[in-house]
Amino acid sequence: MISRFKFSDSVKLIRNIRTTGTIAPSSKILVQRLLASIDFSKTNCIVELGPGNGCVTQALLKRMGPDSVLLCLEVNSEFAAQLNTVEDSRLHVYNVCASSICDILDLLEIEEVDHVVSSLPLAIIEDAMVQNILSRINSNLKRGGTFLQYQYSLANYNDMKPFFSDIKLKFTLRNMPPAFVYECLK
Ligand SMILES: C[S@@+](CC[C@H](N)C(=O)[O-])C[C@H]1O[C@@H](n2cnc3c(N)ncnc32)[C@H](O)[C@@H]1O
Repeated sequence: MISRFKFSDSVKLIRNIRTTGTIAPSSKILVQRLLASIDFSKTNCIVELGPGNGCVTQALLKRMGPDSVLLCLEVNSEFAAQLNTVEDSRLHVYNVCASSICDILDLLEIEEVDHVVSSLPLAIIEDAMVQNILSRINSNLKRGGTFLQYQYSLANYNDMKPFFSDIKLKFTLRNMPPAFVYECLK
């Protein structure tokens, strides 16, 4: 299993700052807030976007049941390779852009997912790509499912609004930098 914090993870995040958008992995408190609304006893399939060093992945695997599946889409090959060292048959890692979510689900013949959990740095991804990713998330999420995303600002709130029936916002100072959690309900 991946350890919680390694200096080398921060180095990788900084080296790839144009696609990671951060300098440190998410704090334990932020990860707890991000996942707090998920009822893991009723969850079969979760998609994680932008898993990076795997701190959210690790928390998901800890909470998920033995028959659940976790699909991780990570664009950075170094992080994807690191995640592929995790020995857990529930975890499936794809070194692809988050916008490939439909292709991956089609490949696996999965029609709908329960939750999409995202660490994508939406604020630094170009607008058309953000719209593309949000629309694909929405079309693959089951009714009543949630899109859970953290961000360091409210910059993408208006992008998310049209795709979801309700958005709840939470905030924590206990992360570097402080972060908002968006709980978006389909
Ligand atoms: C802020 S880091 C998150 C790392 C970790 N999940 C955390 O919370 O500390 C964002 C991650 O999203 C990945 N990423 C950025 N754009 C992406 C995209 N279009 N598709 C998939 N992953 C992407 C980056 O490579 C990076 O690993």
